[in-house]
Amino acid sequence: MSSTSPIEVRDMAIIHKTFRRAFEESAQLVRANPSPSAGRVTFLSLHIDFGLNMLHYHHEGEDEILYPLLVERVPDHAARTEQIDHEHQEVKGAIDNAQAACAQWRSAATSESAEALTTSLDGLNSSLMPHLDNEEREIVPLAAVTVTQKEWDALAKHGIASIPANKKLIAFGMILEPLSATDRTYMLSNLPPPVKLLYRFVGERQWKKYAASLRSGT
Ligand SMILES: [Fe+2]
Repeated sequence: MSSTSPIEVRDMAIIHKTFRRAFEESAQLVRANPSPSAGRVTFLSLHIDFGLNMLHYHHEGEDEILYPLLVERVPDHAARTEQIDHEHQEVKGAIDNAQAACAQWRSAATSESAEALTTSLDGLNSSLMPHLDNEEREIVPLAAVTVTQKEWDALAKHGIASIPANKKLIAFGMILEPLSATDRTYMLSNLPPPVKLLYRFVGERQWKKYAASLRSGT
């Protein structure tokens, strides 16, 4: 079954905003202090893994939920979906490299391991950015007239389910931070009322504390 009028798909570009800046910021923070205290290495390496895992599960959700539906329902657009599949594989290789470099830096934070980590994050960005652009331009409008809202919303559910319980509010704070007031209101409006309250009273503060440690920790 396919829908005729476009469904709401703006959350894809919204979540992409997080990925568009997370790894560049991480690389800057490692470059600013390649061999910091053990506590800082642990915090920052866990943060980098957190972002890499979020991206991994974001793509996993698209591979398992969205792309099979597009392949089945709009076979005329196979060239587009194949291109994205190829890009996902390339990004996966870059995520694997960054995860390995991050583990290496965590076990021995030297200028060499820091350099390898920042190079891997730069490499990830160079395959990720054109991919996000392509997906937003070529796939999201196609999906908007091909899948149902329920099918589309399963992507966000898959992403949320992949985040550890103690990190969900922090992830939400990270996603909201770069957004315009309109997009922020939209994302908050999608939360069930008890979760919205939890974010307002606990999550926002949790994220601000986390972000302060991230950006000013040594
Ligand atoms: Fe995506």
